[in-house]
Amino acid sequence: MAKITFPDGFVWGAATASYQIEGAATADGRGASIWDTFSATPGKVLNGDTGAVACDHYNRYPDDIRLMRDQIGLDAYRFSIAWPRILPQGDGAVNPAGLDFYDRLVDGLLEAGITPYATLFHWDLPQALEDRGGWPHRGVVDAYINYADVTTRRLGDRVKHWMTFNEPWVFTFLGYCAGIHAPGKTSWADYLAGMHHFLLAHGGAVPVIRQNSADASVGLVLNLNWADAASDSAEDQAAVARAMSFQNNWILDPLYRGEYPADMVALYDEAGIMPEIRDGDMARIQGAPDFLGVNFYTRLVVRHDDSVEILRFSDVPQSGEHTEMGWEVSPESLYRLLMWTWQNYAPEHLYITENGAAFADEVSADGAVHDERRLNFYREYLTNVHRAITEGVPMRGYFAWSLLDNFEWAEGYSKRFGITYVDYETQQRILKDSGKWYAQVIENNGF
Ligand code: FCB
Repeated sequence: MAKITFPDGFVWGAATASYQIEGAATADGRGASIWDTFSATPGKVLNGDTGAVACDHYNRYPDDIRLMRDQIGLDAYRFSIAWPRILPQGDGAVNPAGLDFYDRLVDGLLEAGITPYATLFHWDLPQALEDRGGWPHRGVVDAYINYADVTTRRLGDRVKHWMTFNEPWVFTFLGYCAGIHAPGKTSWADYLAGMHHFLLAHGGAVPVIRQNSADASVGLVLNLNWADAASDSAEDQAAVARAMSFQNNWILDPLYRGEYPADMVALYDEAGIMPEIRDGDMARIQGAPDFLGVNFYTRLVVRHDDSVEILRFSDVPQSGEHTEMGWEVSPESLYRLLMWTWQNYAPEHLYITENGAAFADEVSADGAVHDERRLNFYREYLTNVHRAITEGVPMRGYFAWSLLDNFEWAEGYSKRFGITYVDYETQQRILKDSGKWYAQVIENNGF
């Protein structure tokens, strides 16, 4: 096989999120988040799992930094900051101990020669803000901008890569419309209002972050969707356009063009669920981010389906390899998506901010975790990232999801995404074969 070499300076990282790894849910003045509430509600998370302990990273972060440096050789680490540690009530009083934790984490990373990439919001909204209406309530916008201000004022001298949000489609749609994620609501209008407020919060926070963090690069992370049609029929082709517009253009158009996509506006208008858009809102939202982070796991194959309200499409199960999440392994879709994103929006820089796979790992008799399928997954997806680079897509880096096995939201601990195995009884970490392979990729800047 031909050797694949990435451009000089390509950033190799791994990613995590606060609620999924930190644990220490009540330590040092942390307030409750919607995920504490949701996971404590019977029936919401598989096996009743919660993030109360998770990987105990809040206490074990020095060991985890050593793992990143000595065993993997990471250039960069993408983590998220827990809003309820910084502002336990969402706004109002700041909790100094919460800021101190991230201060120690950032200093530890820098001492280890690892560049911190910080996400401000990876879904753990303070419960106090949810009690006031959450993302569907416009008051959340100012609360978020204040949180971003407080946090970047403290860390902005050392953290120079900021992501305002992780996967807004997931926390608004799965959280407020599909009811699968916290806070478990099921309203289309709430979903679209939540989206609009996320966009306003992002747009309002960017200049604040730039001011607090000199020369920082400020972006956001989207789980962009790649959809293929189940057939050549005009109806199925139109279903693909809706699937892409629903999940991708709905966010990218406001950011890059200052307007919502007309095809979806027409559908939402007809259903009477468009959010309130005030004078000046779209101008506050519009602005190309310094970089776009793309999280990518699988594709959808869709067909026209009149039984599905509003969207009128559904996905068609495929044969072929699937991960434990039931997600099809489709590496070439990542290449197609990157080309599509670049050709339609011309982002200045792109990162893969998450990519990875859940498989049913086991510790073998030799004490190792031989996760060959995950290793192959990474090799195939990275090959397609490289292919996009050779065609001119300005990719700047790649972050594996995830550094550690962790709390996989509604799936609890049942799904292992780590390049490092975590024994939740003992908190022992074992670098999997995929992680060892990734360490070599980093060392050689390719494979
Ligand atoms: C993404 C999330 C991340 C993780 C992976 C598997 O949607 O951003 O937290 O759960 O999926």
